[in-house]
Amino acid sequence: METNNKRLRVAIDGPAGAGKSTVAREISKRLGLKYLDTGAMYRAITLKIFRENLDLADLESLSEMLDSTAVQIGTDDKVFLDGEDVTEEIRMSHVNELVSPVSCISLVRKRLVTMQQKIADETDRIIMEGRDIGSRVMPDARYKFYLDASLEERAKRRNREQLKKNMTLSLNGVAAEIKRRDEIDSNRSDSPLTRVADAVMIDTTGMSFEEVVDQIIKRIDN
Ligand code: DC
Repeated sequence: METNNKRLRVAIDGPAGAGKSTVAREISKRLGLKYLDTGAMYRAITLKIFRENLDLADLESLSEMLDSTAVQIGTDDKVFLDGEDVTEEIRMSHVNELVSPVSCISLVRKRLVTMQQKIADETDRIIMEGRDIGSRVMPDARYKFYLDASLEERAKRRNREQLKKNMTLSLNGVAAEIKRRDEIDSNRSDSPLTRVADAVMIDTTGMSFEEVVDQIIKRIDN
């Protein structure tokens, strides 16, 4: 349980395409909370591994890379890898394909969880979203939500986002990629995607963005 009453920590977990980022960003604005997209951090590390062509089984090289790599989330949710703005590149298909296998590596998770917990400790009011926020990163969060939606709906949402960025994957291609990531993210041994018992489950299939935001806001006493 959170002991400090001033603290307002909100955890949002769920699979890819469930709408966590857009919803969490809106809630952060409305309630004046810091927002942290932890998936962006896994994506930035994945991009570095891709660029350096590192072997995922070579833990020594991965450890050295982690020691010498800076991942920062700036204002407007811009993501910096060793000072370079990689906000757009981390959403591209070469990162989508590799990010779930990278997220299975305990060494990577340990470093990122430590960074995320440090960021949470530095502020009293935060909303963080990912896969293991309620279970591992902020198990003491006052509010926990688990957002889900049907695979078809999640694929449609992702497809719409990608079309806006001129990415050309078909709807079937997006669905297959999301399904593959769900399977890896839910079955890995280290902090898999799970709905913790104290999280409020919201199935967003067929709900508008505003409805999802309202469902969450009405439960938060801030
Ligand atoms: O939320 P996203 O789709 O940007 O996340 C990308 C990947 O990062 C996701 O497939 C699994 C991993 N991830 C994780 O393992 N733990 C988190 N807290 C956030 C993301």
